[in-house]
Amino acid sequence: MTIQSLLHTHLQTAMINAGADKDTDPVIKQSGKPQFGDYQANGVMSVAKKLGTNPREFAQKVLDELENSQALDGIADKLEIAGPGFINIFLDKEFLAKSAHTARTSDRLGITSDHTETVIIDYSSPNVAKEMHVGHLRSTIIGDSSVRVLEFLGDTVIRANHVGDWGTQFGMLIAYLEKMQNENASDMELSDLEAFYRDAKATYDNDEAFAEKARSYVVKLQSGDEYCLAMWQKLVAITMSQNQASYERLNVTLTDKDIMGESLYNPMLPDIVKTLKDKGVAVEDDGATVVYLPEFKNKEGEPLGIIIQKKDGGFLYTTTDIAAASYRYHTLHADRAIVYSDTRQAQHMAQAWAIARLGGFVPDNFKLEHHNFGMMLGKDGKPFKTRTGGTVKLADLLDEAVARATVLIDSKNPDVTADERTALIDAVAIGAVKYADLSKHRTTDYVFDWDSMLNFEGNTAPYMQYAYTRVRSIFAKAGVNPDTLTGEIVITDDKERALAVKLLQFEESLRQVAKDGTPHVLCGYLYELAGIFSSFYEACPILSADDDTKNSRLQLADLTAKTLKTGLDLLGIKTVEKM
Ligand code: ARG
Repeated sequence: MTIQSLLHTHLQTAMINAGADKDTDPVIKQSGKPQFGDYQANGVMSVAKKLGTNPREFAQKVLDELENSQALDGIADKLEIAGPGFINIFLDKEFLAKSAHTARTSDRLGITSDHTETVIIDYSSPNVAKEMHVGHLRSTIIGDSSVRVLEFLGDTVIRANHVGDWGTQFGMLIAYLEKMQNENASDMELSDLEAFYRDAKATYDNDEAFAEKARSYVVKLQSGDEYCLAMWQKLVAITMSQNQASYERLNVTLTDKDIMGESLYNPMLPDIVKTLKDKGVAVEDDGATVVYLPEFKNKEGEPLGIIIQKKDGGFLYTTTDIAAASYRYHTLHADRAIVYSDTRQAQHMAQAWAIARLGGFVPDNFKLEHHNFGMMLGKDGKPFKTRTGGTVKLADLLDEAVARATVLIDSKNPDVTADERTALIDAVAIGAVKYADLSKHRTTDYVFDWDSMLNFEGNTAPYMQYAYTRVRSIFAKAGVNPDTLTGEIVITDDKERALAVKLLQFEESLRQVAKDGTPHVLCGYLYELAGIFSSFYEACPILSADDDTKNSRLQLADLTAKTLKTGLDLLGIKTVEKM
């Protein structure tokens, strides 16, 4: 349990006993400044207003309740009323010491895995026969961190790689793959998917016979023709094996088993449309089937029509997402489904889900969340592109990261073996790219900048990875194996106290990431932890201290190392022991 929820429970009870409603929220927050205590209860003012009493008087009543019940004895050693009626809470040193000891000696740092939901996480989701672009990179990195955090907290997570593997373009792609095979091109030439797609399109636009064949292949593919299906599968397999190589390089947990592409939902689409028509949710309009949603207006201020089936019978991206929502609820028995995609798809997702609810495909309590993200920009502030304006290939981006990290690491000339050097360069290169993305609020656009992400100072992967090795080096210097440490943690110095408080807030940052899908909260937490550890280490000598103090401080250092490592791992960032 987090300190925040422990305080929530006790303050809530005290507020209720002082006259507040049963559902009153004490609004427990971590304090911004030490003089305001470790936590603050900010809920008194609104309750007092409701009750028509003076907030400071009501706050005093709450403190009296707490004193009588002795609920916070041994947890907080001072409570005070501040300003218009805030309650500042100062935690007890012994409570902090004991809690830190428990965290250090228990599995999973004492964090209970009490989440019980089945959560679908729809992420990465590249398109077949196209190169993964930077938008998919963001989805892949942020989504994978969300997967790790929710799994750590106990949820059953189902990864859904919603691959764009269906649609009219496949007639053209199959026809072009056939043409290449006839011309004896080897599959190797497909390694450049971007070029493959571009050439297929050019042929389609300029060669009428080819275009006609392409159109006939779409029809055949949709009616289950074996040859077309086999060719289609080949395209999917080639694309996904390339993507899988990227996932492995990126230390992303997706595998082939997680592919749940658009094609999966295709057989369900006629029924979706029929149900929506039968229920009167969808109507025929000029041959197409359309849903009018009053909450979405067009430029004229009239309800916006969303097409779910075209005049020619074809289905749309929206139709697929309605089916996906239904499938995730009925077939996968999920409680919550999250989609990680670009902010520009926000309206699309909202519309698909509004229709899914209107059509009764999912109940109101089924959580559908779009965890949108902004664009990745170049240093010029424009969408991230190659110098010639093309899409940046993921593989090239990662190669550049490795090249730059190699220069950086070699300039530091660390005392490592050749194998350790390779692992270190990989951890820093991939870590830097991932961490740069994870550490920014996902909804804002962010500037992709090699120099800042590979900096050893600031909220960056190299800084965090180095901070971890620094803590670990203390044990090497002391010649102590942290697993053999026993005895108590004793807190006397203010810096020890500050470190213990911060360490015990790890779980609070995880709970927030789990709720909002915002890994930057975890990055920010780890960055602050590393800073607080540095001040502790400067002020509180470890190796030269007397035996008991040394033993206690080594335990705090060990918990710091474990927290940094676990936190970075939940972000999908590798750590090394030496750098
Ligand atoms: N394939 C899509 C794209 O490249 C992203 C899919 C997101 N997921 C979803 N269920 N629509 O933009």
